Amino acid sequence: MKDYRLDFPLLKRRYNDRALVYFDNAATAPKPQVVIKAVNDYYNLHNANIHRGPNFLSEEATLLYEGARKKVADFIGADKEEIVFTAGATAGLNLIARAWGENNLKAGDIIALSRAEHHANIVPWLQLKEKIGVVLEYIDIKADGTFNELSLDKIFDQPRLRVLAITQASNVLGQFYDLRLILKRAQAQGVLTVVDAAQSVVHNPLAVHDLDCDFLVFSGHKLLAPSGVGVLYGRRDLLEKIPPFLGGGGMIAEVKEQSFTPLAEALRLEAGTPNIEGAIALGAACDYLQEISWPEIIKREEVLKDYFLEQLSSLSFVRLLGGNEGRLPLFALDLQGIHPHDAADLLGEKGIITRAGHHCAQPLHDSLGIGASLRASLSFYNTTAEIDVFFQALQSIKKSFSF
Ligand code: ALA
Repeated sequence: MKDYRLDFPLLKRRYNDRALVYFDNAATAPKPQVVIKAVNDYYNLHNANIHRGPNFLSEEATLLYEGARKKVADFIGADKEEIVFTAGATAGLNLIARAWGENNLKAGDIIALSRAEHHANIVPWLQLKEKIGVVLEYIDIKADGTFNELSLDKIFDQPRLRVLAITQASNVLGQFYDLRLILKRAQAQGVLTVVDAAQSVVHNPLAVHDLDCDFLVFSGHKLLAPSGVGVLYGRRDLLEKIPPFLGGGGMIAEVKEQSFTPLAEALRLEAGTPNIEGAIALGAACDYLQEISWPEIIKREEVLKDYFLEQLSSLSFVRLLGGNEGRLPLFALDLQGIHPHDAADLLGEKGIITRAGHHCAQPLHDSLGIGASLRASLSFYNTTAEIDVFFQALQSIKKSFSF
């Protein structure tokens, strides 16, 4: 079996004389050498602005940047024209709430979210609530992490429902949501659909045209690419109607002293010099994952998930948030007698990287009646031996807290 850990320079690092166990992939993924090389190559060989200078460096950079747009489009089953490079999932969601929302919504219009949303898919809508008076309603989540159907029906019964903005996978419950039916239902009612794929895109193949949503966002850094780059997918007819969010160079067809004409294509939403190296490296990350292949990634992650759940079941002081079925290899734990921050600190001292807190999902933690949890989020390159190290460390921390 290939050891994919070897592809990631970070994982060679040792701490307190121990091998690094990186279980914080949901916060940000480590970068494989091919992605780091793509960034280095851009600086070492090209380092030019795109769509600007008529020189060979700029032409090469433009080809690489637009080539990355095509790679990302292929990776999620979209057309190149439907891909806008953003600064990340948060930037994409803000763009939709501001540029689409402010121009298409009125006071009293309802935005439906689930209680499993990340703050990035709550706060921009709350800002819109403050600005124009839209109403936010939340789909309840059952103890097993799935949507509560009654609550869904109640929300869909409301004539003022205008937007369904929903995550494809919870960054706390680990639940992966098959959104196809709910998106179909929304579209049948003329409701705009927005999908947050920040957590799901690195674990499962995505075919946006089959999913049939209006907009979808994700970040590069969780997809093994650099931070500061992300993707907004939008249906072409919708993208063409969104007024440019930011104005500046790169997004205009013509500027006069008293007026401007924006470009028609996706570039109109990419004002200024974009994160060129980030986008190129995101293309390299898509190539890397495609070369490994989805069946291989899914098979490995299933093994890790089952093994983690099996080890977890023997620990009486740990409660898993969410259910066992239909989840990603992402586990938020409620620990009896240990604060999650203490556990994460002590695990860190043993070279085990996890995250503790509300994971930018405070309304979800509130609804679960807890303030914080300890999260271990795994990826295809992790191993069952690392899971053993994690659980041994957790048990020894528990022991030290019991005296
Ligand atoms: N959204 C990232 C997480 O869940 C940062 O950790």
